[in-house]
Amino acid sequence: MELCVALDLPSAKENLALAESLKSYNIWMKVGFRTYIRDGKPFIEALKKINPEFKIFLDLKLYDIPNTMADASEEIAKLGVNMFNIHASAGAVAMKTVMKRLSSYENRPLVLAVTALTSFDEENFMTIYEKSIDEKAEQFAKMSYENGLDGVVCSTFESQAIKNATSSTFLTLCPGIRPFGEDAEDQQRVATLELAEQENVDFPVIGRPIYKDENPAQKVEDILNMIKK
Ligand code: C5P
Repeated sequence: MELCVALDLPSAKENLALAESLKSYNIWMKVGFRTYIRDGKPFIEALKKINPEFKIFLDLKLYDIPNTMADASEEIAKLGVNMFNIHASAGAVAMKTVMKRLSSYENRPLVLAVTALTSFDEENFMTIYEKSIDEKAEQFAKMSYENGLDGVVCSTFESQAIKNATSSTFLTLCPGIRPFGEDAEDQQRVATLELAEQENVDFPVIGRPIYKDENPAQKVEDILNMIKK
């Protein structure tokens, strides 16, 4: 497992201070919508300056026509980030077009697909996708695998089932982790790191349990020790 820290603090200053406090760890940093829209490319550069070995996951969940998605993916590759994501519901043609466009990049970023947004309840999900969340998530995961993506964003509880349906090497990135059973806050179904290991999660994404801790570096150290064991 490789730890991915969600940089979800309200300002660039606070996010960079958090990154600074974690600079001795070569971990993944998740940069989301809000931060990227506000702080853009200079923020990515500032992170790399703090620790050139930080790996960056740009969580922008692209969803548009295939050519526009491929254009955006190419710009993302040029930014030098290591991973980004698209919506699986953009479809097979979009997936193929994105992967084809990135194939000329030597160190292309990993591409993950978002299967089902966890904010959906079954009823609202059904009105759009006409299938249950579990069924559709697995179908989207298979489609992503068949069209050359590297993995999916999913819940810890679906990780192993998705690998069974695709391949053990198909990556799973899972938010909603409370490493040692911390407060779930607004997450509906949370998993511990122990469960994430059992479910073969590749990237546990952890935000509040780290940045709300009085000593984020110590928390990261504890997590890394647990992962290494
Ligand atoms: O603070 P916490 O550990 O709950 O943060 C989880 C991160 O993962 C947040 O950045 C949140 O937006 C993101 N995320 C999520 N559930 C999803 C997709 C992304 O919690 N389904």
